[in-house]
Amino acid sequence: MGFDTVHTAVPGSLRSPESAIMSSVRILLIGPPGVGKGTQATKLKERFGMAHLASGDIFRSEISNKTELGLLAKSYTEKGQLVPDEVTIEMMAKHLMAPDIQAGGFMLDGFPRTLAQAQALDRLLESMNLKLERVIVMEIDDEAVVARLGGRLSCANCGAVYHKVFNPPKIENTCDKCGNGLFVRPDDQPETIRGRLKVYHCQTAPVIEYYKRHCVVQKVDASQSPDAVFQSIVDGLPA
Ligand code: AP5
Ligand code: MG
Repeated sequence: MGFDTVHTAVPGSLRSPESAIMSSVRILLIGPPGVGKGTQATKLKERFGMAHLASGDIFRSEISNKTELGLLAKSYTEKGQLVPDEVTIEMMAKHLMAPDIQAGGFMLDGFPRTLAQAQALDRLLESMNLKLERVIVMEIDDEAVVARLGGRLSCANCGAVYHKVFNPPKIENTCDKCGNGLFVRPDDQPETIRGRLKVYHCQTAPVIEYYKRHCVVQKVDASQSPDAVFQSIVDGLPA
């Protein structure tokens, strides 16, 4: 996988007045594997221009570049287990401290997903004088997740995501955006999907309870169509 644009933002000069306001919002997208976090983050970035920081995409980029971090991460991601907190927190802190992230808004996708990561993120944002304005909880049942991840196709070049049935590419196995071939993520095998769901319910669901205590939490029914989910998210964002 060659894409390394894991936290790029749309240049300010290309933004509409609406997106100029929204682009400064800092949000967290949280939900089970396959709920559509990446799909919605792409739509939000296209519409409003805020940066997209996805821990899974960063790990996949490190794995593809065969870095030391990538080799370590691979041994966890391929089994559907979480990469250890210290490693994940250090990696995400590095990306969050990048000047373009500090200056504008961002969407976090896939981080934090343990209580230790949530607490570390709080400390980091506090040290940067920043805070999360919305935690968007995307809800769906486990069977729908299995159907979504069982048909997912991903672009190794630009990171675009498709589905064999729900969102097929125009030309079979070819990315609409960049023309590259599509692949099935190694962690999208049925057994691994079930394991990832277990990890989500045990380790990540408590993070939602944590945020309910000190952040604005917005629940979204993610079983709807991608456009309807997007509208539900936008309707709840600060005006
Ligand atoms: P990560 O990449 O974060 O995976 P995930 O959380 O399991 O989520 P996915 O990326 O699989 O799904 P998504 O919600 O983005 O859905 P998508 O939009 O693609 O993490 C991978 C691994 O990295 C982890 O298992 C772990 O090992 C490690 N890791 C990452 N972060 C970590 C952390 N913080 N700590 C420790 N380890 C970490 O959509 C899925 C499919 O559904 C697509 O085919 C799409 O087309 C389709 N779809 C989307 N929306 C809809 C809709 N509304 N209707 C119909 N189909 C839809
Ligand atoms: Mg994703």
